[in-house]
Amino acid sequence: MTPTAELQKPIIKTELPGPKSREIIEADAKYVTPSYPRPDYKLVAEKGYGVWIEDPDGNIFLDCNAGVAVCSTGHCHPEIVEAIIKQTQTLIHLCGTDYYYKQMPDLGKKLSEICPIEGDTKTHFANSGAEAIETALKLAMYHTRRQKFISFFGSFHGRTLGALSLTSSKKAQRLGFMRQALDVVHVPYPNKFRHFADEMPCDEEKISRDVINWIENRLFKTTTPPEEVAGIVLEVVQGEGGYIPAPKSFVKELRRICDENGIMLIVDEVQSGMGRTGKMFALDHHEGVKADIMCLAKGIGSGLPIGACVARADIMDWHKGAHASTFGGNPVCIASALKTIELLENGLVENSGEVGAYLQEGLNKLKDKYEVIGDVRGLGMMLGVEFVTDQETLAPNAELRDKIEMECFNRGMIILGCGTSTIRWSPPLILTKENVDVALEIFDEAIAASI
Ligand SMILES: Cc1ncc(COP(=O)(O)O)c(C=O)c1O
Repeated sequence: MTPTAELQKPIIKTELPGPKSREIIEADAKYVTPSYPRPDYKLVAEKGYGVWIEDPDGNIFLDCNAGVAVCSTGHCHPEIVEAIIKQTQTLIHLCGTDYYYKQMPDLGKKLSEICPIEGDTKTHFANSGAEAIETALKLAMYHTRRQKFISFFGSFHGRTLGALSLTSSKKAQRLGFMRQALDVVHVPYPNKFRHFADEMPCDEEKISRDVINWIENRLFKTTTPPEEVAGIVLEVVQGEGGYIPAPKSFVKELRRICDENGIMLIVDEVQSGMGRTGKMFALDHHEGVKADIMCLAKGIGSGLPIGACVARADIMDWHKGAHASTFGGNPVCIASALKTIELLENGLVENSGEVGAYLQEGLNKLKDKYEVIGDVRGLGMMLGVEFVTDQETLAPNAELRDKIEMECFNRGMIILGCGTSTIRWSPPLILTKENVDVALEIFDEAIAASI
């Protein structure tokens, strides 16, 4: 059985990784693709419960990453487990693209109620974030009869060839794959901590204005006529690129550009959605701004593979056979998603906002203490801490970030890097203030040991 609430701190009882973990890592090196972007530290999981992960050697880690923002309700939440078991006893699969079952319209209806999209929506079900993005790209092309897309530097939208054409957070994702499959042009992301011109901080209004200017006065007047643009794909909080929230004025202006030019605003909430930011969606922080098409995955299924592309009903106007997927919207994954949304609505979104603010406050105190912390930012439980060499040049300090990540692991806490020199905090949304106190103590010690 699993330890319960009385477990307050990580328990590390072997060297890391321990002997049983090492066996698995060796087998993995022999039989599994070397392309996975694993961090320097090596975590092998055998069990997960709540905010805790246990490895095969009996070490117990405090999980502040949630399987990269997936285990929104924590590991093996009893109500999620129950919903999955119940569904597997009734119907596991029937290929919703050819037949019907209740779960698909049930989740479609729920998403229509909660997604920040004007009016009625329709949903296409997928198995992952990248697949939801592929759907959005095909739909935007089909609906607008246009082919070009605008994406942002630092963005991550997946690794399938269409999604990869948008993705630009690291060279390794592109290297070796030659030309882009799709006609995508990249523009700077509105990062107020690093203006694209000089990599230095500026205010929100300036970065918003400069990026909007770039799109309207540079792109639209030269290589990318707006009447040929099918969609602009935006992460409202950039994820893999460094956990960077887009300013309100920017998101509003992007909506205006789309409205004026018949361009689809495609909002990728794969990482930022499902309560992660303290509201159900990151776009909910931007009052009055709605998406045309939204992509969801990760946290929606509490760990079961499900993605969704949700669009305005009048936009999802494609013909029978235009797009489908054998497994997409599998009843077991939907059962998990419906239960996840219920748990989110019944307190976890609120907890993400409250406990996330408490965590951010603690991280800001550490920023005052350590001059190697350049920036603390984010919303809810989607928080980034960017490490720099010094407060004057603010040069990114990737080496230090990696060292801190390792020191946290050695002390029994799981966090993961993103961007060039940022540590992301994306814990399960059940995290408590008591967990935060433990996490901050470990983070503090790890920084002190690394500088
Ligand atoms: C914002 C965003 N979009 C899309 C994806 C791709 O999702 P998947 O890995 O499920 O294909 C990710 C994955 O990290 C993501 O963060």
